[in-house]
Amino acid sequence: ACTAEPFVPAHADLAALREAAAGCQGCPLHRDATQTVFGAGSSDARIMLVGEQPGDQEDRQGRPFVGPAGKLLDRALAEAGVDPDETYVTNAVKHFKFTRAGGRRLHKAPGLRETRACAPWLAAELALVEPELIVLLGATAGKALLGPSFRVTGVRGMVLEEEVHGRPQRLVPTVHPSSVLRAQDRETAYRGLVSDLTVAARALA
Ligand code: URA
Ligand code: SF4
Repeated sequence: ACTAEPFVPAHADLAALREAAAGCQGCPLHRDATQTVFGAGSSDARIMLVGEQPGDQEDRQGRPFVGPAGKLLDRALAEAGVDPDETYVTNAVKHFKFTRAGGRRLHKAPGLRETRACAPWLAAELALVEPELIVLLGATAGKALLGPSFRVTGVRGMVLEEEVHGRPQRLVPTVHPSSVLRAQDRETAYRGLVSDLTVAARALA
Protein backbone atom coordinates (compact mmCIF):
# COMPACT_ATOMS: atom_id res chain seq x y z
CA ALA A 1 0.00 0.00 0.00
CA CYS A 2 1.00 3.62 -0.50
CA THR A 3 2.46 5.21 2.61
CA ALA A 4 4.57 8.17 3.65
CA GLU A 5 5.86 6.15 6.60
CA PRO A 6 9.43 5.48 5.34
CA PHE A 7 9.90 9.19 4.59
CA VAL A 8 8.98 10.45 8.08
CA PRO A 9 12.11 10.93 10.21
CA ALA A 10 12.02 9.93 13.88
CA HIS A 11 12.76 12.54 16.56
CA ALA A 12 12.43 15.42 14.13
CA ASP A 13 11.30 18.96 14.86
CA LEU A 14 8.86 20.77 12.57
CA ALA A 15 11.60 22.20 10.37
CA ALA A 16 13.14 18.76 9.85
CA LEU A 17 9.72 17.24 9.15
CA ARG A 18 8.98 19.91 6.57
CA GLU A 19 12.30 19.30 4.87
CA ALA A 20 11.73 15.54 4.77
CA ALA A 21 8.16 15.95 3.50
CA ALA A 22 9.51 17.92 0.54
CA GLY A 23 10.98 14.62 -0.71
CA CYS A 24 8.02 12.37 0.05
CA GLN A 25 7.11 9.84 -2.62
CA GLY A 26 4.68 7.91 -0.45
CA CYS A 27 1.92 7.98 -3.05
CA PRO A 28 1.61 8.92 -6.73
CA LEU A 29 0.40 12.50 -6.04
CA HIS A 30 3.94 13.84 -5.79
CA ARG A 31 4.47 13.18 -9.51
CA ASP A 32 2.15 15.80 -10.98
CA ALA A 33 2.08 18.35 -8.18
CA THR A 34 4.59 21.21 -8.02
CA GLN A 35 5.71 20.67 -4.43
CA THR A 36 4.75 19.34 -1.02
CA VAL A 37 2.62 21.80 0.93
CA PHE A 38 3.46 21.14 4.57
CA GLY A 39 1.68 22.69 7.56
CA ALA A 40 2.45 26.23 8.70
CA GLY A 41 2.55 27.76 12.14
CA SER A 42 4.29 27.43 15.48
CA SER A 43 4.83 24.21 17.41
CA ASP A 44 3.35 26.18 20.37
CA ALA A 45 0.06 26.70 18.56
CA ARG A 46 -3.03 26.00 20.68
CA ILE A 47 -5.31 25.26 17.72
CA MET A 48 -4.56 23.03 14.76
CA LEU A 49 -6.75 23.56 11.70
CA VAL A 50 -6.84 20.60 9.32
CA GLY A 51 -8.04 21.02 5.73
CA GLU A 52 -8.26 18.59 2.85
CA GLN A 53 -5.37 19.13 0.45
CA PRO A 54 -3.59 22.08 -1.13
CA GLY A 55 -5.35 23.81 -4.02
CA ASP A 56 -3.90 25.37 -7.15
CA GLN A 57 -2.49 28.46 -5.39
CA GLU A 58 -1.13 26.47 -2.47
CA ASP A 59 0.59 24.10 -4.90
CA ARG A 60 2.30 27.02 -6.63
CA GLN A 61 3.24 28.93 -3.46
CA GLY A 62 4.06 25.96 -1.21
CA ARG A 63 1.94 27.19 1.70
CA PRO A 64 -1.44 25.98 2.97
CA PHE A 65 -4.59 28.10 2.65
CA VAL A 66 -3.15 31.01 0.66
CA GLY A 67 -5.78 30.85 -2.13
CA PRO A 68 -9.46 31.90 -2.16
CA ALA A 69 -10.53 29.33 0.48
CA GLY A 70 -7.66 30.48 2.70
CA LYS A 71 -8.63 34.14 2.39
CA LEU A 72 -12.17 33.26 3.42
CA LEU A 73 -10.88 31.16 6.31
CA ASP A 74 -8.65 34.00 7.56
CA ARG A 75 -11.61 36.36 7.57
CA ALA A 76 -13.82 33.84 9.39
CA LEU A 77 -11.12 33.14 12.00
CA ALA A 78 -10.69 36.86 12.67
CA GLU A 79 -14.44 37.28 13.09
CA ALA A 80 -14.57 34.31 15.43
CA GLY A 81 -11.82 35.82 17.57
CA VAL A 82 -9.14 33.24 16.84
CA ASP A 83 -5.64 34.71 17.04
CA PRO A 84 -3.71 33.61 13.90
CA ASP A 85 -0.52 33.42 15.97
CA GLU A 86 -2.10 30.63 18.00
CA THR A 87 -2.93 28.47 14.98
CA TYR A 88 -1.11 25.75 13.11
CA VAL A 89 -2.69 25.17 9.70
CA THR A 90 -2.26 22.01 7.69
CA ASN A 91 -3.98 19.51 5.39
CA ALA A 92 -4.85 15.82 5.52
CA VAL A 93 -3.05 15.34 2.19
CA LYS A 94 0.09 17.32 1.38
CA HIS A 95 0.09 17.25 -2.43
CA PHE A 96 -2.41 18.83 -4.83
CA LYS A 97 -4.57 16.28 -6.69
CA PHE A 98 -6.07 17.55 -9.92
CA THR A 99 -7.18 16.78 -13.44
CA ARG A 100 -6.32 18.90 -16.44
CA ALA A 101 -9.12 20.49 -18.41
CA GLY A 102 -7.75 22.56 -21.25
CA GLY A 103 -5.10 24.74 -19.63
CA ARG A 104 -6.73 24.58 -16.23
CA ARG A 105 -6.01 22.35 -13.27
CA LEU A 106 -9.22 21.23 -11.61
CA HIS A 107 -9.19 20.14 -7.97
CA LYS A 108 -9.97 16.47 -7.47
CA ALA A 109 -10.91 15.26 -4.00
CA PRO A 110 -8.34 12.89 -2.50
CA GLY A 111 -9.54 9.37 -1.82
CA LEU A 112 -9.09 7.15 1.20
CA ARG A 113 -5.92 5.75 -0.39
CA GLU A 114 -4.15 9.12 -0.49
CA THR A 115 -5.49 10.17 2.90
CA ARG A 116 -4.17 6.95 4.44
CA ALA A 117 -0.84 7.26 2.64
CA CYS A 118 -0.31 10.81 3.88
CA ALA A 119 -1.58 10.21 7.44
CA PRO A 120 1.91 9.71 8.97
CA TRP A 121 2.75 13.38 8.24
CA LEU A 122 -0.37 14.60 10.00
CA ALA A 123 0.33 12.25 12.90
CA ALA A 124 3.87 13.62 13.20
CA GLU A 125 2.62 17.22 13.14
CA LEU A 126 0.08 16.40 15.85
CA ALA A 127 2.68 14.74 18.04
CA LEU A 128 4.90 17.83 17.85
CA VAL A 129 2.32 20.60 18.13
CA GLU A 130 0.09 18.81 20.68
CA PRO A 131 -2.75 21.28 20.09
CA GLU A 132 -5.36 21.86 22.79
CA LEU A 133 -7.98 21.78 20.05
CA ILE A 134 -8.26 20.56 16.47
CA VAL A 135 -10.63 22.23 14.01
CA LEU A 136 -11.65 19.75 11.32
CA LEU A 137 -12.32 21.66 8.10
CA GLY A 138 -14.61 19.25 6.26
CA ALA A 139 -15.12 15.52 5.91
CA THR A 140 -11.67 14.59 4.57
CA ALA A 141 -9.97 15.99 7.68
CA GLY A 142 -12.52 14.22 9.88
CA LYS A 143 -12.04 10.88 8.13
CA ALA A 144 -8.27 11.25 8.37
CA LEU A 145 -8.35 11.65 12.15
CA LEU A 146 -11.56 9.95 13.30
CA GLY A 147 -12.07 7.21 10.70
CA PRO A 148 -13.82 6.70 7.36
CA SER A 149 -17.36 6.80 8.74
CA PHE A 150 -16.95 10.42 9.90
CA ARG A 151 -19.60 12.90 8.64
CA VAL A 152 -19.69 16.65 9.28
CA THR A 153 -23.49 16.79 9.47
CA GLY A 154 -24.74 16.30 13.01
CA VAL A 155 -21.46 17.13 14.75
CA ARG A 156 -20.41 20.47 13.26
CA GLY A 157 -19.94 23.21 15.82
CA MET A 158 -19.70 20.72 18.69
CA VAL A 159 -16.70 20.14 20.93
CA LEU A 160 -15.96 16.42 20.50
CA GLU A 161 -13.71 14.48 22.84
CA GLU A 162 -12.18 11.55 20.99
CA GLU A 163 -9.06 9.43 21.00
CA VAL A 164 -6.71 10.48 18.23
CA HIS A 165 -3.61 8.29 17.83
CA GLY A 166 -4.17 6.97 21.35
CA ARG A 167 -4.44 10.38 23.00
CA PRO A 168 -7.56 12.15 24.27
CA GLN A 169 -8.20 15.10 22.00
CA ARG A 170 -10.79 17.86 21.75
CA LEU A 171 -12.00 18.56 18.21
CA VAL A 172 -14.50 20.94 16.63
CA PRO A 173 -15.73 19.85 13.18
CA THR A 174 -16.98 22.37 10.65
CA VAL A 175 -17.45 22.67 6.90
CA HIS A 176 -14.60 23.19 4.49
CA PRO A 177 -14.16 26.88 3.56
CA SER A 178 -14.30 25.91 -0.15
CA SER A 179 -17.86 24.68 0.38
CA VAL A 180 -18.78 28.19 1.52
CA LEU A 181 -17.43 29.57 -1.76
CA ARG A 182 -19.58 27.08 -3.70
CA ALA A 183 -22.75 27.49 -1.60
CA GLN A 184 -26.01 28.82 -3.11
CA ASP A 185 -26.46 31.07 -0.11
CA ARG A 186 -22.92 32.12 0.61
CA GLU A 187 -23.74 34.51 3.43
CA THR A 188 -25.61 31.86 5.43
CA ALA A 189 -22.88 29.29 4.80
CA TYR A 190 -20.25 31.80 5.88
CA ARG A 191 -22.17 32.66 9.07
CA GLY A 192 -22.31 28.94 9.85
CA LEU A 193 -18.53 28.63 9.51
CA VAL A 194 -17.95 31.68 11.75
CA SER A 195 -20.37 30.28 14.31
CA ASP A 196 -18.52 26.93 14.44
CA LEU A 197 -15.15 28.68 14.71
CA THR A 198 -16.54 30.80 17.56
CA VAL A 199 -17.27 27.56 19.43
CA ALA A 200 -13.62 26.62 18.94
CA ALA A 201 -12.42 30.03 20.13
CA ARG A 202 -14.57 29.81 23.28
CA ALA A 203 -13.47 26.25 24.00
CA LEU A 204 -9.91 27.57 24.30
CA ALA A 205 -10.64 30.51 26.53
N1 URA B 1 -8.18 23.82 0.65
C1 URA B 1 -7.60 23.04 1.58
O1 URA B 1 -8.18 22.10 2.10
N2 URA B 1 -6.37 23.31 1.93
C2 URA B 1 -5.68 24.32 1.42
O2 URA B 1 -4.55 24.48 1.83
C3 URA B 1 -6.31 25.13 0.47
C4 URA B 1 -7.56 24.85 0.09
FE1 SF4 C 1 3.71 11.83 0.33
FE2 SF4 C 1 1.37 12.79 1.09
FE3 SF4 C 1 2.50 13.74 -1.08
FE4 SF4 C 1 1.49 11.31 -1.13
S1 SF4 C 1 0.36 13.24 -0.85
S2 SF4 C 1 3.51 11.90 -1.91
S3 SF4 C 1 1.96 10.61 0.96
S4 SF4 C 1 3.29 13.94 1.00
